[in-house]
Amino acid sequence: MADVPPVEKIPEAKKERFDKLRSTFISKYGTEPDYFARAPGRVNLIGEHIDYCGYAVLPMAIEQDVIFATSSNADGKITFSNLNPVYKDFECDVSDITIPKDNPQWYFYALCGVKGMMEHMKKTTALGFNCVVEGTVPPSAGLSSSSALVCCAALTMMQANGWSLSKQELADMCAHCEHYIGTEGGGMDQAISFMAKHGTAKLIEFNPLRSTDVKLPFDTVFVISNSCVQANKAASSNFNIRVVECRIATQILAKSNSLEWKGIKKFAELQSLLLTTLDEMIDKVNKTFHKEPYTKTEICSILEVTPEELASTSLSENTLNVESFKLYQRASHVYNEAKRVVEFKQTCDLNASGTVEKLGELMTASHDSCRDLYECSHPDLDNLVQICLKSGALGSRLTGAGWGGCAVSMVRATDVLNFLAKVRDEYYLKSEERSTKILESLFATEPGAGAAIYKV
Ligand code: GLA
Repeated sequence: MADVPPVEKIPEAKKERFDKLRSTFISKYGTEPDYFARAPGRVNLIGEHIDYCGYAVLPMAIEQDVIFATSSNADGKITFSNLNPVYKDFECDVSDITIPKDNPQWYFYALCGVKGMMEHMKKTTALGFNCVVEGTVPPSAGLSSSSALVCCAALTMMQANGWSLSKQELADMCAHCEHYIGTEGGGMDQAISFMAKHGTAKLIEFNPLRSTDVKLPFDTVFVISNSCVQANKAASSNFNIRVVECRIATQILAKSNSLEWKGIKKFAELQSLLLTTLDEMIDKVNKTFHKEPYTKTEICSILEVTPEELASTSLSENTLNVESFKLYQRASHVYNEAKRVVEFKQTCDLNASGTVEKLGELMTASHDSCRDLYECSHPDLDNLVQICLKSGALGSRLTGAGWGGCAVSMVRATDVLNFLAKVRDEYYLKSEERSTKILESLFATEPGAGAAIYKV
């Protein structure tokens, strides 16, 4: 039997929240909702910016989520209304969905999920739905608020039409359709949103997509702290530049190893074609690339292509004008980060003495690499990570795409209260603006459950 998202009863502890959504739905649409769909955000413990290179990552779902209170309609209309008035209502037809790439409004993420579902099911018409949306994942914070919206909308569309897809199909489909917004992410966020299980982190592997439970040390707690620097990855080309740098580095490595490079797009694909280990790939990176940035002219000459050919084999719409590419740094980050994920998982599995210290070291090394080699951190986030380490974290790192957003720290359970107090004093109370946001910015978290449908 296919592993489909579960249909559950509303948990007693969440009743109040669902009731509020339900009454808002009734006052907006004049009828009861038929069901609720829920998709969680996530925190990535290790494995940053490597999913789109084909490498495994290690996230867990968080409690914060997106919920749609929904009823289907036969006229093919999609109507979104958000509990938070900052987010404007939107309405369109299922058969006429346009998603601009230069204007990342909240509902366009939801429309990605609907459009993706229509295409996956090869439909030009379908039942629509009216919904009231509530999101508790902090936006632009690296906790996957956007993918939670995409996933929740896809799940809603599936339920509205009585279609049945497995969690894995949904995750693959959502990873693909989120690209309509213009960001070339990997599949981590959508995979964990559907495949998460309460109480366990997951190793997510790609090609084919699969997940394995990872038991985290019982005597530690993961704490999320938001730097309060917002980073909307669809609003700038930073993210896609990294994707493109990785693609070009892959292609240069492929060419220098006498492979037909044009069809090879991911570091992991290259590694399996070369039948090598990660250490051997790191060695190849060291021997192939110089540390100075590459110009487009130099890349074209190495790959023996014109700038127009390079644009079609390797670049994306919003990276056509990039002129400088740090290939050594990006490749080095990816292969070493892929190794750290393997070590993290092995260390958790072994659970020998020194486990928590080793996991902490790996997390901090991951942050250093994101900061120095991948250059996807932010000075405030670096400062926050340092404060977390000084406040007793065993390891601390940025999580998610970066350029702002959250840090995740591993802390001994016995130290957690002390840790929270120190980070509050040293990071949040040092700024008037941040001090108003402590509650929603600094919190302990534990592995949450994946997406589900809830009966009214
Ligand atoms: C975003 C993307 C993910 C992943 C992370 C960085 O969240 O959506 O696919 O690439 O950034 O690890």
